[in-house]
Order: sequence, then C-alpha cells, then structure tokens
Amino acid sequence: MIGKKKLYSSIETPETFHQRINTDINFDLIFTRDSLNVENPVLFSVLKGSASNKVMVFIDSGVAKAFPHIIHKISTYLHYHGFQCPLAPLVYPGGETVKDGWNYVRDMMDRLLEAHLCRHSFCIAVGGGALLDAAGFAASMVHRGIRLIRMPTTALSQDDSGVGVKNGINYNGVKNIIGAFAAPYAVINDFDFLRTLDARFIGDGVAEAFKVAIIKDLEFFSYLEAHAKEIKECTWPVIERVVKRAAILHLDHIGKGGDPMERGEARPLDFGHWSAHKLEAMSGYEISHGSGVAVGIALDSVIACMLGYITATERDRIISALSAAGLPIFTSMLEKRDVNGSLGVLQGIEEFREHLGGSLCITLPKGIGDRIEIHELRHSLVENAIVFLKGLDANKK
Ligand SMILES: NC(=O)c1ccc[n+]([C@@H]2O[C@H](COP(=O)([O-])OP(=O)(O)OC[C@H]3O[C@@H](n4cnc5c(N)ncnc54)[C@H](O)[C@@H]3O)[C@@H](O)[C@H]2O)c1
Ligand SMILES: [Zn+2]
Repeated sequence: MIGKKKLYSSIETPETFHQRINTDINFDLIFTRDSLNVENPVLFSVLKGSASNKVMVFIDSGVAKAFPHIIHKISTYLHYHGFQCPLAPLVYPGGETVKDGWNYVRDMMDRLLEAHLCRHSFCIAVGGGALLDAAGFAASMVHRGIRLIRMPTTALSQDDSGVGVKNGINYNGVKNIIGAFAAPYAVINDFDFLRTLDARFIGDGVAEAFKVAIIKDLEFFSYLEAHAKEIKECTWPVIERVVKRAAILHLDHIGKGGDPMERGEARPLDFGHWSAHKLEAMSGYEISHGSGVAVGIALDSVIACMLGYITATERDRIISALSAAGLPIFTSMLEKRDVNGSLGVLQGIEEFREHLGGSLCITLPKGIGDRIEIHELRHSLVENAIVFLKGLDANKK
C-alpha cells in the first residue's frame, strides 16, 4: 500500500484533450425498375458526381444465372454513360459461400487493386445480402474505403440488409464475426430483380418486414395481416409495397434510432433474432435466415404474451398473420436437445448476450407497433413457449 502511494505520487497530472469528430453519413436509397436500361438515369445520376470514372462490378452468381445478359447489359450501360471498367464485371458465388472466410473477399480486394481504383472510384455490388456483405467489406478496406453502390437483388437485401451500414463475413463457423461498419454511397433497389427469386427468398424479406412492423408500425402490421394471402401467392404489387415500407422503416431506424454503429445494448432490429441465429446454425444453414426470423418472432411473441406485454389476441394476430403469409412459426429444431438434455436453442440466449457485449437485452413487442427491452429470459419460460407454439403448429395442420 505504502509502495503504491509512492508510485502514484511520482506520476505527473495527466493532461486530457478530448476529441469529437462528427462524421456526416448520408446516402440515397432509390427505388426503380429496369435499372440497367441505358435510358434509365438512376445509376448514371449516382455515378456522375465523382472525380473518377472508374467502376468495378461484382455480381452474385444467382443473379448472373437468372439474368444471363447482365454482364453485357451493365458493361454497355457504363460505357454508354462514359464510365470505364478496367476489368470486366466479375461473378462471385451467391449465398453464404461468398462470405465463408476470407477467400472471396481477398479476391475482391485483389481485383479492386488490380483495376487501380482510387477512393473516388466506384464498386458496384449486384446481389443478395451475402454478396453485398462480402463486397461491402472488401470495398471498405481497399484505400480504407472505395465508394460502394449496392444493388440488392433479394427481398431481404432490398428491405433490410442492403440499406444498413454493416458488412462482413463468417469466420471459423461464426456468422458475421469479422466485418466493418461502412455506409454505402447509394443503394438502388430495382424491383425487377425480385421476379426471378425462389419463393423462399421472397419469404425471407417478408419475415424481416413482419419483424420491423411488429415493433414499430401497427398500420404496416395491419397491412401485412390484411394482405397475407396475396403475400403467400407472391402478388407483385403487394410484395413491392411490403419491401418498400420495410426498407424505409429499417432506413429510418438506422438513421434516427441513435445508435447506427450498435455501440449500446439495445438492438430493436434484432427482435426475434436471438433464436433465429441459433436455429440457422443448428440446422447447418438449412433453415434460411428469414425462416429462422419468422419462428423467432412467433416464439418471442408467445414469450411477450406470457410476460404480459401483449394480449393473447395480439399474440394470435401475429402468429396467424405469419402463417397466412406462408412463413413458418415452428421448427422441430426448437426441440432439439444437446447431450446434457438441454434445449439447444437456449444457447442462443448466451450467444446473443456475448454478441451484445456482456449484458443481455432482448427486444419484445409491447402491444403491436411498439417494443420493450428485457434483460433476463428464464429458460423455463422459453421451454413453455416452445410447447405452446408446437401445439399451435399442430392445430394448424
Ligand atoms: N449486413 C446486414 O446488416 C445484414 C442484415 C441481414 C442479413 N444479412 C445477411 O444477408 C444474407 C442473406 O441475404 P439474402 O436473404 O439476400 O440471401 P443470399 O444473399 O444468401 O441469396 C440467396 C440466394 O439467392 C440468389 N439470388 C440473389 N438474387 C437473386 C435473383 N434476383 N434471382 C435469383 N437468385 C438470386 C443468390 O445467389 C443465393 O443463392 C446473410 O448472410 C445474412 O447474414 C446482413
Ligand atoms: Zn435479420
């Protein structure tokens, strides 16, 4: 003790100079159709503001397959408008493969360097959420940030992931564990891309729309509920309206929610996600993100009802609307137990806690259209909610 006192008294009084940097992040989200038609001015209007006319394009293989002329079309568009592609557009695998470790991200960075792009040049990423996550991460690292234009091509990437500021890859079997916060230069949502999607990838975007509606927008939830049958049948004007409203709600939350870089504990946009992430991983990604989210929303709505935050009528409205829209509310994965006999999904609570930085914060609906954060979730409550959901699912069949 005496020794310590002596040590401290020998240290000079520290001088602190506080630094505060306000960075102004802003970008446009533009909805359009037929974006690569040379007559469509949207992409040109985004590109024309730069001092560089060099552009690099990364395309999702699923998109290249569904739109066999896309490489020719985008090259023609860029040349027509006076832009240079030092390398031809490159196709990378769509889905989780592209963000599985560093391989493809490293290749993207190599190509951006090979093309001698500078910080005023553009990287255009055309694809689903996985391709956008990987390309955005690569673009954020080269020259500490090349301008990224996202052209999301799935419902989920148009209404959720593509309008955000997160980029990244999976590493060592852990989802999104490596990455960077980097905002896009612009986001162009071309509805025409959605037409070739497998129905389940439309459903994934719809699940995220339910998520954001239930915690933020009763009117939007009522729209989803009233149009659930058309959503299930993939009626395009309805799907487009759903994608657009959900995108705007996500955009609004990220811009005005006060925590775009997720420094605090609360993650309202992760409602239904603590179990969703776990179910996806437990299934070896057989359960898509959106299906996991739909089940997660159903589970957390049952829990919210048990805790008195929503009424039984509100719970039933949520679950019926999810089902009517063709989304799952239950999976047998919820009942899978580990070697110790515990439900595997319960580990999702701990993983979520760790991801948040030590203290648990789970968002639940408070009524429909509002939310509440809870900091503890009893395992017995989750077990009871699973039994209840299983019963509902059985009655449905
Ligand atoms: N960065 C974020 O904030 C954020 C948020 C949510 C989800 N994500 C990530 O997004 C990913 C999921 O994205 P997703 O739902 O868009 O799916 P995805 O990117 O995995 O794509 C799904 C499949 O659709 C194909 N595809 C893409 N567009 C197509 C089209 N127009 N026509 C035909 N096929 C097409 C792809 O090749 C792929 O096979 C996950 O990796 C998830 O972690 C990121
Ligand atoms: Zn999600």
